[in-house]
Amino acid sequence: MSHDEDSCNSSGNRTFAEVVQAASSRRSFLTGTVGLAAATFIAPSLGQTLTLTQNNGLGSRNVGETRLRKGRINFSPVPVSEGSGPMPSISSDYEYQVLIPWGTPLQSGIAEYTGDPNTRPSAADQERMVGVGHDGMHFFPFDGKNKEGILAINHEFGRNSHVLGKSAPEDDEDIRLSQAAHGVAMVHIRRSMQGWKVVVDSPYNRRITPNTPVLFSGPARGTPLLAPESGAKGTVNNCSSGFTPWGTYLTCEENFNGYFGDSQGSWTPTEEQERYGFSPEGFGYGWETHTTDRRFDLGSAEHPNEDNRFGWVVEIDPMAPDQPPVKRTALGRFKHEGVAIVEGKDGRIVAYMGDDQRFDYIYKFVSARNWQEMRAEGLSPLDQGRLYVARFNEDGTGEWLWLTINDPVLAARFNSQAEVLTYARVAADLLGATPMDRPEWTTVAPNGDVYCTLTNNSRREEPNPANPLTPNEDGHIIRWRDKGQHVGKRFTWDIFSIAQDTHAEGDERTFSDPDGLWVDPGGRMFIQTDGGQMKGLNNQMLVCSVYDEGGSQNLDIKRLFTGVTGDEITGLTTTPDRRTMFINTQHPGNGDPLASNFPAEPDGVTIPRDSTIVITRKGGGVVGS
Ligand code: FEO
Ligand code: CA
Ligand code: CA
Repeated sequence: MSHDEDSCNSSGNRTFAEVVQAASSRRSFLTGTVGLAAATFIAPSLGQTLTLTQNNGLGSRNVGETRLRKGRINFSPVPVSEGSGPMPSISSDYEYQVLIPWGTPLQSGIAEYTGDPNTRPSAADQERMVGVGHDGMHFFPFDGKNKEGILAINHEFGRNSHVLGKSAPEDDEDIRLSQAAHGVAMVHIRRSMQGWKVVVDSPYNRRITPNTPVLFSGPARGTPLLAPESGAKGTVNNCSSGFTPWGTYLTCEENFNGYFGDSQGSWTPTEEQERYGFSPEGFGYGWETHTTDRRFDLGSAEHPNEDNRFGWVVEIDPMAPDQPPVKRTALGRFKHEGVAIVEGKDGRIVAYMGDDQRFDYIYKFVSARNWQEMRAEGLSPLDQGRLYVARFNEDGTGEWLWLTINDPVLAARFNSQAEVLTYARVAADLLGATPMDRPEWTTVAPNGDVYCTLTNNSRREEPNPANPLTPNEDGHIIRWRDKGQHVGKRFTWDIFSIAQDTHAEGDERTFSDPDGLWVDPGGRMFIQTDGGQMKGLNNQMLVCSVYDEGGSQNLDIKRLFTGVTGDEITGLTTTPDRRTMFINTQHPGNGDPLASNFPAEPDGVTIPRDSTIVITRKGGGVVGS
């Protein structure tokens, strides 16, 4: 989504810059045999044994070896000429099924909301249905099976015009409906001869909304910043996601600021609130006008810390539906896009994270110790560790700057580590982090390289080495390799792809605004887009190889799927065998039935509904091949 338009960063870290040599030419570290030991990868499978699998031997940069082992990509791409309009298109080698559109019941006794423009679900029904704004996902298979499991899915946002059919809520019921459409769903799904279906009334089916009780853990827990914690509720604007090797889902709170407002005109922002983008009107949801629940009213004296309770990474156990979500404060508070977890040196858990706003930062968290030892002692690896923010240097090196109260610069500004984490953006400003062009998803490739989408920044006037375009209308993908198997303070980096390099006339590869990103164990990179595409295309999902060399001009990118008018393509997970992939069309038609009626056939009336799209290769095969 694009509520991240404005910069909240006035720290002036945009400096390094005069400098810009096409950083994309700096590819030498990718072609040699740089000795990064094989990273260990977390298999996208829990349920069974939560095994961590080795990375298919791709740790070495021996070119011949990687060529032998890289995954093939030889499907027929969707041509530009077929990638527009109110219905999706998919490669002729593939097929898709629509699953869990907004309004799908998770319990019996309530009717599906099918997009009738004259009605909307009740708030009570919506709390037992699939929400809106489908985004980050993870499939948790039962016993490693490819046919059954829990699909965890984020419901990032739904505009009032879409969810309520009006521009602003008129009563508390409207606000409750809007809130119930947000959050997270855990959906038990099973494949039969007729395709994938929801297991209605499964005990694993669950909705988590802005009104679900939550807990806090880590350094900010029990501090005045979050007090009083008893009765704390909710998660909101759940954008992308991650998952842990111990089988839990991580949902990331992105544009939380927009759900707050000032109903009385009595609120004066603090410096920290300004840095996080709070404003009297928010994004216009009107939640602050609720007559009895004043949590989202910035001027409410009863709820002085409600704003600090959002902007975290939240852990949810899909197999324990009675357990409350836990906000892991050690990972810092910012506009969390997503989180990519990898096991680093000594078995430490490493989390790479982007803060999606113009001129904001890339972060990583490293657990204090080996994650299995910590868990054996009853500790969460996500509660103790170090949070770093990235600085990209001109010479292709970079540094992870530790956000610690022991740093004299931070000690002069903050009173505790809890404050450093709660106001991580302010701390990162003070340490001189590199302002980026809206960091979205991160992913770790089989050889340990880390990639991050920088979706665009039309307001960049001053370049820095990692963000060389002024303005950057179409975005790029940056790549780095951490020294010390993900736990060190140094890295090398280059630019993997610049989207505008694909726009030449006749170039079928064209894409803009990269957002969702995943590299599979065969080195296939899946790029999902969110923004205005060139040549009349709808948003799309493309596939290329991370082993392609020679700069983005030469990347062999193929288009696997295009969405529908007005949507974005986001969310990505697979079954363990990778023969079934789940992605989402978010806000099809921007909620306007005149633009799209998806998943209904075009009729000009039905309200379009966010949906999951299940992708399989005709005749079988790994998706992307
Ligand atoms: Fe929720 Fe930055 O996308
Ligand atoms: Ca986006
Ligand atoms: Ca996104």
